[in-house]
Amino acid sequence: MSQSDKFWDGVAEKYARKAVPDEAAYQRKLAETQSFLTADMQVLEFGCGTGTTAIHHASYVKHIDALDISDKMLEIGRQKAHKAGIENITFSRGTLAEFNAGTASQDAVLGLNVIHLIPDRQATFAEVARVLKPGGVFVSATGCLAHSWLRFLTLIVPLGKLFGLMPDLFVISEEQLVREITDAGFSIETRWHHGTQGIEVFIIARRI
Ligand SMILES: C[S@@+](CC[C@H](N)C(=O)[O-])C[C@H]1O[C@@H](n2cnc3c(N)ncnc32)[C@H](O)[C@@H]1O
Repeated sequence: MSQSDKFWDGVAEKYARKAVPDEAAYQRKLAETQSFLTADMQVLEFGCGTGTTAIHHASYVKHIDALDISDKMLEIGRQKAHKAGIENITFSRGTLAEFNAGTASQDAVLGLNVIHLIPDRQATFAEVARVLKPGGVFVSATGCLAHSWLRFLTLIVPLGKLFGLMPDLFVISEEQLVREITDAGFSIETRWHHGTQGIEVFIIARRI
């Protein structure tokens, strides 16, 4: 188990109880995502956390594979889905690369509030492009800290990780994020930001 898995296991219960910080923005993201979903779709979500978003989308698609590196997050997700009577989400432990979905096997891939936590974004975007069908959609919400004072948090990440108080955290700007996604073979369909200093960036991109 890595330091990041331990961190996310440790905060899972609290994360599950926490209210969504910006309910209006969350509802907008759900609605915009659902406008791209159809009942025959296979969806893959990496970094699913406690499954809240997957549960919201489950009735709009055929099946969702929901992945996370934290067993605790997954356990809570499974319980929530069971309680809601949802049977078309499969929760699995691991990263997107570890899951190794078939090439062009997915209609949509979701990476929500997770990309800024992943060390190798380019490899992640390449993997998203590989597993998506041409014309498939990649839905992401990413903390872009490059122009915020919060970027200084990364200076204490090594120490925070050592004590299990912080996960991996990487600084990126919105412009860089958009460039990396388009370079991986996507066209941007939707892009907007919200949150303190506009650091929460929501993008729906289509696999060319
Ligand atoms: C901030 S939470 C977001 C959870 C959920 N997507 C949401 O929007 O509420 C980040 C989640 O990503 C997971 N995570 C972190 N790094 C990951 C990685 N490399 N691959 C898959 N999941 C990861 C963590 O365990 C945690 O559950």
